[in-house]
Amino acid sequence: MFQDKVAIITGAARGIGRATAELVIQGGGKVVVSDIDPDAAEQAARELGANAAAHAGDIAKDGAPEALVATTIDAFGQLDIVVNNAGYTVDSPIHKLSDGDFQAMLDVHTVAPFRILRAAAPYLRDPAKQEREEGREVFRKVVNVASLAAYGNAGQANYSSAKAGVIGLTKTLAKEWGPFKVNVNAVAFGLIDTRLTQAKTGDTTVKVGERTVAVGIPEKARTMMGAMIPLGRGGTAEEAAGAIAFLCSPWSDYVTGQVLNVSGGLALGMTA
Ligand SMILES: NC(=O)c1ccc[n+]([C@@H]2O[C@H](COP(=O)([O-])OP(=O)(O)OC[C@H]3O[C@@H](n4cnc5c(N)ncnc54)[C@H](O)[C@@H]3O)[C@@H](O)[C@H]2O)c1
Repeated sequence: MFQDKVAIITGAARGIGRATAELVIQGGGKVVVSDIDPDAAEQAARELGANAAAHAGDIAKDGAPEALVATTIDAFGQLDIVVNNAGYTVDSPIHKLSDGDFQAMLDVHTVAPFRILRAAAPYLRDPAKQEREEGREVFRKVVNVASLAAYGNAGQANYSSAKAGVIGLTKTLAKEWGPFKVNVNAVAFGLIDTRLTQAKTGDTTVKVGERTVAVGIPEKARTMMGAMIPLGRGGTAEEAAGAIAFLCSPWSDYVTGQVLNVSGGLALGMTA
């Protein structure tokens, strides 16, 4: 499925990103594991084997997206797939939400994907010119990880805005890069069982620069969400990765500009 394809997967040290990396490698592809957590990124790349390389760093930092693309080209000489998956949450009702926490969510979930894709343009978009002259179609893939929260979720004004932003980026790029045979889609997850959605104890943290952010959601919210899922449970990281892998694979060559909700049927947010 991914023979001779090279993928960047951000946030691939654990969770959904890691499970996606495993599927791409199993399908014959090569993966650059990008993560803010250097030890976890190195370990994941080691465990994934010779077809994986690690790139450690905060993708929201200036220069990091360009460095990530450069590492990929150095390691594997080409780039065919980008999965913008890295992220975390900092929840707060809007009247208590700081400028910094609003901006941090935009930076990691919207601005970083934009910068990575801009840096990737020479590898994802430009080869199509030559391929067109040769009468060949070669599909390249972008998958941006959004969330049902993009449709509105109390306590997540920052995260919701950022995930809605990446949906706008997805749909715009699908139009810009369609003529270059780049499929650009998003997945919107509901409740996937990873450390981001475990009951919040304060023990599980993401270190972002000097800051340590506790992740997880209140037990009550978990139980309430669980009860609203038609399929009766949260999804596994592997189930989430399956949807991303579909959108990275030749099975999705005629799918672009879409948001695939992967939520066991859960619907969140406001409807029209
Ligand atoms: N788990 C869910 O229910 C759920 C629901 C909707 C959307 N999502 C989205 O799915 C994506 C993956 O989340 P997950 O549940 O697998 O969480 P996770 O915490 O298991 O994995 C996320 C990875 O991203 C890395 N990361 C975080 N900030 C980063 C940064 N600035 N630069 C580089 N790496 C960074 C983390 O170190 C971690 O390894 C996120 O974008 C998240 O918002 C998850």
